[in-house]
Amino acid sequence: MIPIVKTVADVRKYVKAWRREGKTVGLVPTMGFLHEGHKSLIDRAVKENDCVVVSDFVNPTQFGPNEDFETYPRDMEKDAALCEASGAKLIFNPEPDEMYDNALTTVSVDKITKVLCGRTRPIHFNGVCTVVSKLFNIVMPDRAYFGQKDAQQLLVIRKMVKDLNFDIEIIGCPIIREADGLAKSSRNTYLSSEERKAALCLFRGLNKGREAADTGADVDTVKALIRSEIEKEPMAKVDYVEVVDLDTLEPAADTKNILAAVAVYMGRTRLIDNFIIGD
Ligand code: PAF
Repeated sequence: MIPIVKTVADVRKYVKAWRREGKTVGLVPTMGFLHEGHKSLIDRAVKENDCVVVSDFVNPTQFGPNEDFETYPRDMEKDAALCEASGAKLIFNPEPDEMYDNALTTVSVDKITKVLCGRTRPIHFNGVCTVVSKLFNIVMPDRAYFGQKDAQQLLVIRKMVKDLNFDIEIIGCPIIREADGLAKSSRNTYLSSEERKAALCLFRGLNKGREAADTGADVDTVKALIRSEIEKEPMAKVDYVEVVDLDTLEPAADTKNILAAVAVYMGRTRLIDNFIIGD
């Protein structure tokens, strides 16, 4: 069985032994309840590195006071089976105290964390940047893998890695979708069957926007089309629909290099999705 370790010291023992043998190391940071989206990250990491560590930690510091930290789905047995079958070598599954015992230090990225999801979730990216920095320092991987479904997170992490000179290559991996187009997410499990059907409005809206952008529509038209398609669904409550510059996350002037991102409440579940045009 794949080893599941709970302490920083144990992760370091494994990684040091691999390094002594000249092996490369990949890290896939996750909050567990792994699905095919995570599997695609692990598969890619296994292809590109000799040894892969999957961190499986529901990070309390990235959840706001009224968010779903307590109810976030957890299934360590299933996660371990998926990691093992995918060829990962180690799971790091610490308790919050192992990560945050009396910690007074945090990592924050300015500006690009204040827009999109940062508006509704003001402490979220501080929690993400802090935990990801810690995981980078614990595992010291050559490469780390993140999904494009959390496109803002991916950009924030790339910026943090550049600004703080982490010697780690950040690999962004494409969104993995259900057969009908819904982006895979651990939070999809919260959806009732009616909400699950209604949730397809995100994909429909983004497709409308994408088609319009591809045929020369301007930013405002793309945004309006996405929003109006989503709002046709009575169960959907839009948190935001934005079309921003892919590098700065500031409002885009044209559709050449954009992130079109949406966050939508479906009942109590907040879903996100996006498309990008550009590199
Ligand atoms: O994307 C996630 O699952 C989390 O935000 C991450 C990167 C594992 C940090 O807790």
